[in-house]
Amino acid sequence: MARSKIALVGAGQIGGTMALLAAQKQLGDVITIDIAEGVPQGKSLDITHGRSLIPTSSTLTGSNSYEALAGADVVIVTAGLPRKPGMSRDDLLDVNFGIIKTVGEAIKKNAPNAFIIVVTNPLDAMVYAMQKVTGFPAHRVAGMAGVLDSARFAALVAEALNVSNEDVTALVMGGHGDTMVPLTRYCSVGGIPVTQLLSKEKLDEIYKRTANAGGEVVALLKTGSAFYSPAMSAIHMAEAYLKDKKNVLSCAAKLNGEYGVTGLYAGVPVIMGAGGIEKVLEVQLDETEKKMFDVSIAAVKSLVEWVDKKMSA
Ligand code: NAI
Ligand code: 2OP
Repeated sequence: MARSKIALVGAGQIGGTMALLAAQKQLGDVITIDIAEGVPQGKSLDITHGRSLIPTSSTLTGSNSYEALAGADVVIVTAGLPRKPGMSRDDLLDVNFGIIKTVGEAIKKNAPNAFIIVVTNPLDAMVYAMQKVTGFPAHRVAGMAGVLDSARFAALVAEALNVSNEDVTALVMGGHGDTMVPLTRYCSVGGIPVTQLLSKEKLDEIYKRTANAGGEVVALLKTGSAFYSPAMSAIHMAEAYLKDKKNVLSCAAKLNGEYGVTGLYAGVPVIMGAGGIEKVLEVQLDETEKKMFDVSIAAVKSLVEWVDKKMSA
């Protein structure tokens, strides 16, 4: 069986970490592409030097040319600017849209059969733009956010209860922004609903901290945003696709009537396997949750309207 090829567009903080993780997990051969001369080459070489220690047989190559995308099974896009202190994800819209447009056209030309995972912020608008630019079927273009937001929620629950993170299952839906919707009703610990283990006050606190988790890291780092857990999250999705794992995970998927939304990308639970986004799962939302989801969708919608205007200009 031929090895899989994983292309990482953007060799920055997340891109470099993903290259290491993909090699550690032996997902296939890894090509990293960036406009910064020497950076993708240098990071690939650095990991290559340590291959016998991981150990891995994955090869790692860096390039400054989008032609290196040829034959990629999965393309993960982090190309763009990250947040700095005081910036919201939405502040990145203009500059990152231009980058997504360039990268999308290059993927369409060089890797027309790839599954694309977009990470660049503002996530829901950028993944929407990527699908429009490539014209790929929506099940082959997904956005990474829900896996990360759900993992952050789970980490905070595990910490509050002093239990193993392995036993916590969490689900965060909606857009990847301040209006994301952590669903405490669907969080469980070893099968026990978290609502039976933590007070409403504590869960509200965890909910707020989850929505602000990215900002908390930015405030500490000062020079960029979170990258270890975002890299783990995107690689989790790539692995689900490459190994046809049929994982149930939350990601930005294009909705076609589900949750009363059509034509927008937003964070929802899906089945991810060799078919990409194989199915959007519709969970029941109570009145408050549905209201929160709708507020989140309205925030995504205003960004997407901006993208639509730019694309038709
Ligand atoms: P970074 O600045 O370390 O890396 C971005 C890389 O993109 C840089 O190396 C830059 O040279 C490269 N780049 C810029 N234009 C390019 C182009 N046209 N083609 C190829 N490469 C290009 O940033 P980092 O920390 O890796 O974050 C990347 C993006 O991911 C940011 O937009 C950030 O906001 C977003 N992000 C999204 C998360 C999510 O949950 N969806 C979580 C964390 C970050
Ligand atoms: C995060 O959630 C900034 O979107 C980035 O860490």
